[in-house]
Amino acid sequence: STLTAGSVSWQSPSNIALVKYWGKYGEQLPKNTSISFTLSNCHTKTKLNYTPSNSNTFEFEVYLDGQRAESFEPKILKFFERIEVYMPFLKQFKYKIETTNSFPHSSGIASSASGMSALALCLMNLERLVNSDITDEYFYAKASFLARLGSGSACRSIQGPLVVWGEHSVLPGSSNLVGTTLPFELHSNFKDYCDTILLVDEGEKVVSSTVGHNLMHKHPFAEQRFSQANHNFEKIIEVLKSGDLDSFMEIVESEALSLHAMMMTSHPYFILMKPNTLSIINKIWEFRRQSGSKVCFTLDAGANVHVLYPNAEKEQVRYFITNELASFCENKKYINDQVGNGAFAL
Ligand code: PMV
Repeated sequence: STLTAGSVSWQSPSNIALVKYWGKYGEQLPKNTSISFTLSNCHTKTKLNYTPSNSNTFEFEVYLDGQRAESFEPKILKFFERIEVYMPFLKQFKYKIETTNSFPHSSGIASSASGMSALALCLMNLERLVNSDITDEYFYAKASFLARLGSGSACRSIQGPLVVWGEHSVLPGSSNLVGTTLPFELHSNFKDYCDTILLVDEGEKVVSSTVGHNLMHKHPFAEQRFSQANHNFEKIIEVLKSGDLDSFMEIVESEALSLHAMMMTSHPYFILMKPNTLSIINKIWEFRRQSGSKVCFTLDAGANVHVLYPNAEKEQVRYFITNELASFCENKKYINDQVGNGAFAL
């Protein structure tokens, strides 16, 4: 390549699954179809500095918030090794990867989806500089493909507002290899949907999602779970067309609890929820009974609670969160977010 030194920068969001991915096979392929809201305020910004190099090895340094972050480097090395067959030019450069997250480092919010998708987009940008005649469609699909190899759910962070991952007969174009957007118009009830993330526990997770996925291999309920998720996916596709918020809440909450039920029934078993996670869930149910609100919750692989609600209810739900839920959060911390449209170049 004739490229000299330079840099590319991308901002990529986190995402929150409505139907959960939990269990994989092969080269990071999902055992069931999942779908997520793309977020906006929770994001990673990554700058990839590249310099031509003849060393023929992977040479890179990772910086988080301006500080060298050597603890992340083995994971990035593994990622580079995995994607090299798809990006044969990788070793022609050495890299300085500078990354920052909009959310606090130890907030318990997974940064792997936003971080891996931001890095994948930077690498695609470099590929486009090396080979200028690639289309936008190829660019974003391959970015999602690469992000998936970094962290499965990261393939759902490239675009928005809703992204599907995993082939399913009800959705033509869906794929195990990449995230895809919905081929129909989303009901207006879901436009600008809100997600407030309650930071219940800022500590390190006791069990990583890698270990969790692997525990699905000999899980007694695995096949039931995968077919349940595929069925819930079918149902939520109808809901996203019809705008039926009651069905939406039921599917989303059941998915969150089923995900955690898998953790509690694997061997070894484990629990990622904390007492305050359950207190918050009960408060949400009580508030819903009293007010008729369409607020609901979901969980990812941790103790934090994502509170989901229509934009039309923003004022009353945020009042409820500030006054009744914040006290269950570590240092009363939470993050107001909403559905977004995906990553962009900086
Ligand atoms: O992408 P991973 O390997 O971190 O797995 C993410 C799993 C969940 O967040 C629990 C569910 C999901 O679909 O995002």
